[in-house]
Amino acid sequence: MANLFANRMQNIQKSFIREILKVTQDPEVISFAGGLPNPRFFPVEELAAATAKALAKQGRQMLQYSTTEGYGPLREFIAARYAAKGVAVSADEILITNGSQQGLDLIGKIFLNQGDTMIIERPGYLGAIQAFAMYEPQFLPVPLLEDGIDLDTLEVVLRDHQPKLFYAVPNFQNPSGVTYSEPVRCTAAQLLAHQNTILIEDNPYGELRFAGLELPSLKNYLGDQAILLGSFSKVVAPGVRLGWICAKPEFIDKFIIAKQATDLHSNYLAQCVVAQYLQDHDLDAHLATIKAAYKKQCDLMVAMMTELFPEEVTFTRPEGGMFIWVTLPEGMSSLALFDEAARLKVVFVPGQPFYVGGGGENTLRLNFSNCDEAKIEAGITHLAHAMKTLLVRDRTLQPI
Ligand SMILES: Cc1ncc(COP(=O)(O)O)c(C=O)c1O
Repeated sequence: MANLFANRMQNIQKSFIREILKVTQDPEVISFAGGLPNPRFFPVEELAAATAKALAKQGRQMLQYSTTEGYGPLREFIAARYAAKGVAVSADEILITNGSQQGLDLIGKIFLNQGDTMIIERPGYLGAIQAFAMYEPQFLPVPLLEDGIDLDTLEVVLRDHQPKLFYAVPNFQNPSGVTYSEPVRCTAAQLLAHQNTILIEDNPYGELRFAGLELPSLKNYLGDQAILLGSFSKVVAPGVRLGWICAKPEFIDKFIIAKQATDLHSNYLAQCVVAQYLQDHDLDAHLATIKAAYKKQCDLMVAMMTELFPEEVTFTRPEGGMFIWVTLPEGMSSLALFDEAARLKVVFVPGQPFYVGGGGENTLRLNFSNCDEAKIEAGITHLAHAMKTLLVRDRTLQPI
């Protein structure tokens, strides 16, 4: 029985976040744990109308098998949107995937041999760590600072290891909410430009900027050395399970072979419906509504945290996306805080699972997109209370 499962399954942990989400089934629990968009903004009627219209136009053909690359008009839309943001790519460089999560898996599939080295942010997106771990690479964690990747460590790691991949989430990162500043992007790109390392820019939150100025994609500096991942999950709805990979044609050919082996193609009906929805509606107007609400929610959460959290506790102030990252005083455990807060019916994600190679015991992630304002007020009040209880307890336990 010991050898029933493949070696690659030995070190894969069950997602701690999925486990926490089970706790949140209790309707009385206020959850800052999930990475869920606010369902208030799912375009229910619009998608119903788009489905009827697309089916009336395309009929049975919309229910037939289709090409692996994805639905042409959807790929055209994505390429045009990149072009409008100053990233010149053609529709041939876009492959539609089942969310950007599948993009991560396909990247592992076509690039990673066991033991290959790859840079991962520390803290890093847990879903990426899980997806890549299946291919048994050697992770090289590089810390994230307030303004992006730690350039000094990046330089050393690139020099010493010449890693195959560098996985980055430069905008409103999950879990930290951190955005790479323009100088950090520029210097990181300069360091990479003399290497064979492929940069993966995963950008599911880029369209959710509600403060500050839009910054250039790393592809603007690196050209074909960068692979971009995008997603409709946070801008339309995650249930459609549609995202994409944007890469040079030579890479796309390999991705197509890998995707064919996995699932032949992404849900064609969903692709046609989303393409119809995007054709009939102004995505920017929809995004403006989402961003205004997320800004309000984030501002309220930050204001409450500033007022109520003990002064030893620090946190990021994101300019977009869905997450705030909290650092507790050294030695204070976010797992202990989790238990204390759960008693008061508030939950969050302790930070430790986001750290490859250990660390982060005093950190945690808060989501602000999924809660209305009343819940944010009540939840942060309870969380602050739990922190103060723990601080008093920790101090009482100090040896005199
Ligand atoms: C950084 C990052 N990448 C990828 C994903 C996967 O998103 P999806 O598969 O829904 O596009 C997420 C989801 O939360 C994420 O935070």
